[in-house]
Amino acid sequence: MRGEGGRGKGEGDRSGGSGCAGGAPAWIDVCASGDLVEGGDGVRFEWGAPGEGGRPVPAFVVRFDGRPRAYLNRCAHVAMELDWLPGRFFDDAGLYLVCATHGAMYEPDSGQCVAGPCRGAALAALRCEESGGRVRVAAEPPSGR
Ligand code: FES
Repeated sequence: MRGEGGRGKGEGDRSGGSGCAGGAPAWIDVCASGDLVEGGDGVRFEWGAPGEGGRPVPAFVVRFDGRPRAYLNRCAHVAMELDWLPGRFFDDAGLYLVCATHGAMYEPDSGQCVAGPCRGAALAALRCEESGGRVRVAAEPPSGR
């Protein structure tokens, strides 16, 4: 069943700030650093921020080139979730994020679509950081959409 399951779901900790423009963003604690393997399964979570109507939306984080990368789980072609099984975002080689619906391929570091029906478009990128063995994502509007 798509859209359910996966590690990290519902683990959000939205304490630590307002997320309002001009202030420090709130951060969502997503997972332990060790949960993310280079080019491996991602961690799904629910993301929400001011400007999104307060409604949590599906998002995910993966590790690529040694760093966590977070995006809304929303294809740039049609607003469908990307993963073909919960947390499965990468192709077999672990080089591109792939949409399960029509096969769009995205660069994991930039979110740019490099092949498929939405070539030239991009995933909505979320600011994330890794510290103290945890990966967290800013509850502020994404870029790249
Ligand atoms: S919905 Fe992702 S490629 Fe069409």
